[in-house]
Amino acid sequence: MLSAAHHAAGARATQRCRALGIAPYSDLADALYRAWLTPAHKAALGALEGWMTEAGMAVRIDAMGNCIGRYEGTAPDAPTLLIASHIDSVKNAGCFDGPLGVMLGVECVSALHAARRRLPFAIEVAAFGDEEGSRFPAAMLTSRAMAGTLDTADLAIADAQGTSVAEALATFGLDIARAAEARLPYTPIAYLEAHIEQGPVLEAEGLALGTVTGIAAQLRYEVQVEGQAGHAGTTAMPLRRDALAGAAEMIAAIEEIARAAASDVVATVGRIEARPGAANVIPGAVRFTIDVRSGAEGRRDAAAAGILAAIGAIAGRRGLAARWEEINNLPASPCAEPLMALMDSAIASTGQRPFRLVSGAGHDAMVMAALCPVAMLFIRCEKGISHNPAENVEVADVAAGFAAMMAFIDSLGDTL
Ligand code: HGY
Ligand code: MN
Ligand code: MN
Repeated sequence: MLSAAHHAAGARATQRCRALGIAPYSDLADALYRAWLTPAHKAALGALEGWMTEAGMAVRIDAMGNCIGRYEGTAPDAPTLLIASHIDSVKNAGCFDGPLGVMLGVECVSALHAARRRLPFAIEVAAFGDEEGSRFPAAMLTSRAMAGTLDTADLAIADAQGTSVAEALATFGLDIARAAEARLPYTPIAYLEAHIEQGPVLEAEGLALGTVTGIAAQLRYEVQVEGQAGHAGTTAMPLRRDALAGAAEMIAAIEEIARAAASDVVATVGRIEARPGAANVIPGAVRFTIDVRSGAEGRRDAAAAGILAAIGAIAGRRGLAARWEEINNLPASPCAEPLMALMDSAIASTGQRPFRLVSGAGHDAMVMAALCPVAMLFIRCEKGISHNPAENVEVADVAAGFAAMMAFIDSLGDTL
């Protein structure tokens, strides 16, 4: 039931994601890393502005560096559907995590524009600049700003190089004092985000698309462990206060606690840094992150409490000082039931049976849920691999995603 036009849109969205996967749209020459407010982010905004303009949208960059294209509805005071995802990436990323949802939004508007169709609602397509939290110790800062849930105090942070958010915004030509202006001046009728699944469920089901029912709750901490740096050759083992050996024991405990918890609880230490970082020096200080998730806040919080207690106990036993800071806390976020029903029908219109699944990965949709009803469409990705350069999608699946989004948009119009 897919037409040549669906395939062409799917192919172009896929190709544009691949195009953004390399320099100058990456801050690394040999891998994809596009963090918020970097030269690669700036370059990606330049390309995106061109594509949005070509698709018939009026483009603006907001006070937080989000890129927003607007396609008016039939009337100037029509409500607005917001279609969005993110264009920042993790380090050594695949090129579809985030950009695919943005490119598909652009394709939807482009198709309407080519057919000279206006709807009873305007459409805005947004590319959020910070979803992953891969530069600053926080995540989803830009969608939080847009939803109006960001406290400006949350921006008093710096990246690993010591560059503050204020300085990074200034380098981008933006002013932290105006960050609150990124808040959307309207309440969308709905928020729609298409995203690769980042897991293996759709592939196992033999399905291209799925309706997301909700997003797991997330907690992130940054932990600092202080011991004592010393000579690796002269300090006898019982006299050491090795921060890295302590952190290793903590990490093993984190894994054990998560394994013993309910089956949907996951915990990850994804970044660790030991100082001073020399082969012949006992590490005196370590920083690492912990990411804990579950479909229910209660299960997540119970696991996190156990983890923090274990870290404290291990530090105490080893004569180390451990402290931690919560850097992200997002409640579990259900998608809106009426929109899920629309998405099921939209998927069915592509010739596939509707299928529902939950998202273990976080998405800007969970932030936007504070503002309006949200819908998410998952697109199958190869072997479920994501946050990895091997991330891959089939053009036919992206074309099906595009067709489902168009059907969703049409049926949303019918509900007004
Ligand atoms: O971490 C996440 O779940 C998302 O990919 N940012
Ligand atoms: Mn991601
Ligand atoms: Mn993503």
